[in-house]
Amino acid sequence: MKAIGYKKAGPITDLEALVEFESDMPELGSRDLLVAVKGVSVNPVDVKVRNNKNPEDGYKIIGYDAAGVVEKVGSGVEKFKVGDEVFYAGDITRPGTNSQYHAVDERIVGKKPQSMGFAQAAGFPLTSITAWELLFDSMGVKEGEGEGESLLVIGGAGGVGSILIQLAKKLTALTVIATASRKETVDWCNKMGADHVINHHESLVEQVKTLGLEPHYVASLTGTDGHFNSISTLVIGNQVKVLSWYDNEWGYATRVLDLINHMYSQETI
Ligand SMILES: NC(=O)c1ccc[n+]([C@@H]2O[C@H](COP(=O)([O-])OP(=O)(O)OC[C@H]3O[C@@H](n4cnc5c(N)ncnc54)[C@H](OP(=O)(O)O)[C@@H]3O)[C@@H](O)[C@H]2O)c1
Repeated sequence: MKAIGYKKAGPITDLEALVEFESDMPELGSRDLLVAVKGVSVNPVDVKVRNNKNPEDGYKIIGYDAAGVVEKVGSGVEKFKVGDEVFYAGDITRPGTNSQYHAVDERIVGKKPQSMGFAQAAGFPLTSITAWELLFDSMGVKEGEGEGESLLVIGGAGGVGSILIQLAKKLTALTVIATASRKETVDWCNKMGADHVINHHESLVEQVKTLGLEPHYVASLTGTDGHFNSISTLVIGNQVKVLSWYDNEWGYATRVLDLINHMYSQETI
């Protein structure tokens, strides 16, 4: 089968960053589906892996989100049959989806919504899982609840932010404040359903105050280092859940500790 991958980690500007090559068909485990891939998405995780991770041998195939049609099933498969249209976020420990065929464990696969084409469906899994886990599992918001409370989404027009705004607006009663800095991203956040859109290149604290709101939840998806002091100021004195992404877990842990120390010093926790 044809696949696309790289032999040496590096930036996309390298001539060999993404090359087409012939690969063996994947071998199926008992719970695996062999999927004929019809659509994939490009996600920040692809960029991070391609920049940093050398293949153990030969080529590394990236691409984690996919949509396609089940071509063959492993001996223990229970939930799917040949011909089913599926979509999934894949498994970072296995070869990626930038290939004609792909093996994936059925337990992390869903039926593709019929209302979507393959390309559209492939854009959803990882961003949606991330936004769902962030809102309902990590922040602990309950469906239908959140009346009188607000969620600040920093980086609202990004992949995760776009889904997070929609989930919060459709499934909870939270007021959503999103950040965006360009006309098209401001329009996009409004289209996703945000109640208010503020600019992340201007003072978040002043803009949130002007709205007369105090965020009860903060999802800092992009540029957290630059927004750290503003977030600290916004959450001081309030029972706020803050969730932020960093390029590595140490960064995340260190800044969370900074925040806790800062709040202790202000005697707010
Ligand atoms: N995508 C996923 O499925 C996924 C899964 C797990 C973790 N993550 C992590 O979550 C984070 C966000 O990912 P994403 O895919 O949502 O990002 P993304 O799509 O790359 O986000 C782009 C957005 O970031 C905004 N932005 C740029 N500079 C900013 C700043 N200084 N402050 C606030 N916003 C800024 C831009 O808004 P303007 O253009 O309006 O300035 C743009 O709309 C990343 O760290 C990623 O690794 C993502």
